[in-house]
Amino acid sequence: MVGNRRIAVFGAGYIGLVTGACFAKLGHEVVVRDIQEERIEVLRGGGVPIHEDGLAELIAENADRLTFTLDAEEAVRGADVVYVCVDTPPTASGDADLSRIWKVIESLRNAQHLAAVVVKSTVPVGTGARIRAALDSAGLQAVGYAANPEFTAEGRAVHDFLHPDRVVIGTDDPDTAKLVAQLHDGVDGPIAQMDVASAEMVKLAANALLATKISFTNEIATICEATGADVEQVVHAVGLDHRLGPHFMRAGVGYGGSCFPKDSRALRALAGNSGYAFQLLTSVIEVNDLQPRRAIQRLKDELGGFQGRTVALLGIAFKAGTDDVREAPSTIIASRLQVEGASVRCWDPLVRPLDEAPWSSATRCLTPLEAMVGADAAIIVTEWPQLRDLAWEQAAAAMAHPLVFDGRNVLDPQQMGALGFTYMSVGRRTVRGSA
Ligand code: UGA
Repeated sequence: MVGNRRIAVFGAGYIGLVTGACFAKLGHEVVVRDIQEERIEVLRGGGVPIHEDGLAELIAENADRLTFTLDAEEAVRGADVVYVCVDTPPTASGDADLSRIWKVIESLRNAQHLAAVVVKSTVPVGTGARIRAALDSAGLQAVGYAANPEFTAEGRAVHDFLHPDRVVIGTDDPDTAKLVAQLHDGVDGPIAQMDVASAEMVKLAANALLATKISFTNEIATICEATGADVEQVVHAVGLDHRLGPHFMRAGVGYGGSCFPKDSRALRALAGNSGYAFQLLTSVIEVNDLQPRRAIQRLKDELGGFQGRTVALLGIAFKAGTDDVREAPSTIIASRLQVEGASVRCWDPLVRPLDEAPWSSATRCLTPLEAMVGADAAIIVTEWPQLRDLAWEQAAAAMAHPLVFDGRNVLDPQQMGALGFTYMSVGRRTVRGSA
């Protein structure tokens, strides 16, 4: 295929592996570099260290164009383009920690042959300009620079990469813009080309707006609880307005994951650093912090306290379809339950056993039903389809008290009531069992 390039992807996490595997599928020669020995060993042995739908198959199918290394120099040696996909965790001040990005940039010192460096990691606006200056002072003026933020959602990242709503390419150099666009030949989506700073801002603004939609819905849900309205019916009808749409308006115990919490705090910090208080975003973050705590308080009021109680916690991952627990509401919920004196029996179909608190003192169960045996209450934290399809009549019989708090509104209140449950959910009336 004409136009195929050699791409060195730095970072073998959720973003780097998907980016590398998808570029290999598009016909490019890809080497993925990571600093974690174990991770690279697993990949070299044909394994995949993370769960992402379709990724293992994609890596296997394109194995002849995909290699893995620990050695930065080896990765860069034959590459035309370096893709930076390392993580940018928050620092104590809430700014993004860019140290991993700077390490990659330092390793490019002898890479005069490179056509471009492209950053996919989420970064504060202005980072690209600093990287450009660093490349220039390292004698790499001829190496192009582009920001190419990612918009893939975990669990469907391969699909999102290959069929994106848009590919954003931010660069001040037409040749680099053309090159990065060509790398995406075969990707089914429009290209939005702009300057570097704007591309960096698109990423932060998109995630902040999605987080805002979720927190807004959760606020409406709270008012629904107080007034007797039903948030599911409200959201359905609001979402029929084509100007608003139904997406990211599912009420629940709050958003989690590696992106929304981090990126919304990073945008707030970015605004704060320039003396601007982004009050709307601050409220979005506060609403989200409160969501899991409100759920626990409501359940506590219903039970009359958690001391000596057993609670089944159903779902640990921050959302269904992933094994990721980063900033998952489940962690706050498990911790709050234990602090209040409850024993926690938890279940999740994908999350690996966790050694750290609060999970180290929770009992891990193999099925949702096992988790609910003898429980005084169950709380649904992740919208796993298994929970929708569960034989809830068996759960009613197995629990000490048939009480369910549905933190993702996955079940039907009337059906749960008919099975004898006291059924609480978010933004809907509590149903008291009639069986
Ligand atoms: C998110 C964005 O959706 C991606 O576009 C973006 O590329 C990615 O962050 C990133 O910055 O890397 P992701 O974190 O994988 O993707 O997960 P989402 O599906 O967006 O869900 C985030 C959280 O919001 C989950 O905890 C989910 O349960 C929650 N959520 C989502 C709600 O509570 N309500 C909703 O209506 C939708």
